[in-house]
Amino acid sequence: MIISKTVSSVRGEIKAVKGLKTIGFVPTMGALHQGHIRLVRESVKVCSYTVVSIFVNPTQFGPKEDYSTYPRKLKEDLSLLSKEKVDLVFVPSAGQLYKKNFSVSVIDSALSNKLCGKTRPGHFNGVLTVVAKLFNIVLPDLVFFGQKDYQQALIIKKMIEDLNFPISLTTVATVRQKDGLALSSRNAKLTDSGSRDALAIYESLSIAKSLIGQGERDPVKVIAAMRNKIKTKKSITIDYLEIVSPDTLEKIRVINGKILIAVAVYVESVRLIDNLIIRAKA
Ligand code: PAF
Repeated sequence: MIISKTVSSVRGEIKAVKGLKTIGFVPTMGALHQGHIRLVRESVKVCSYTVVSIFVNPTQFGPKEDYSTYPRKLKEDLSLLSKEKVDLVFVPSAGQLYKKNFSVSVIDSALSNKLCGKTRPGHFNGVLTVVAKLFNIVLPDLVFFGQKDYQQALIIKKMIEDLNFPISLTTVATVRQKDGLALSSRNAKLTDSGSRDALAIYESLSIAKSLIGQGERDPVKVIAAMRNKIKTKKSITIDYLEIVSPDTLEKIRVINGKILIAVAVYVESVRLIDNLIIRAKA
């Protein structure tokens, strides 16, 4: 496993394999967990060369967000990746990716204003910009993103289409603890009681799924039931609970066909998101 810290060294490695091997790419911000490992294994399964990047991207954090306290565990991350069949790990410094006079970014003007974008203005433009830069450096054929960050994967897919990147994106199912909590690097910031309270996130999604399974078609009623579940936990503040179209992220009036149930909350001030995609019978 090669570890590269510079754009030029990654370019050198990629030049030797581009066109000869299928390059799979898993961009991450590190503090890796089994959700990331699932993405890596998917890449290793379908590609002959796998690249992982580890970079906590400053441009996707707002001024009051947790950039400085975001978990950083490079040693553990590299040790985890060395047990997988990863060919190259790119670990750039912020200076490698953003020069002092950096002034051009990628902006989405539709999907980014929905769901997480409402409370995190500029977040997805920061994500798109760094992902576009990484794509231009790594030149992947296939890229892998987790369903937990559904909105992110959708917007990156849109960027791939709109900006003609010759890349195919695979979304991989969310990995959960046995008790249902979606794995997230930010879970490490929770206290024991916060971790217990956070179970209400998946419980609320399960309540929604079962109400819809029983025939409820009114999103307002489903969301009210989810809210009641989450409100029992004092450490949780709700950012949003929404039932939307998985394609446009627009709120829906009647539950019918494929829908996305999306949750964002703060547990002890730690922002956690989760979602379920459900196909509701007519
Ligand atoms: O999902 C993440 O970890 C980040 O948003 C990403 C895609 C690596 C961009 O910084």
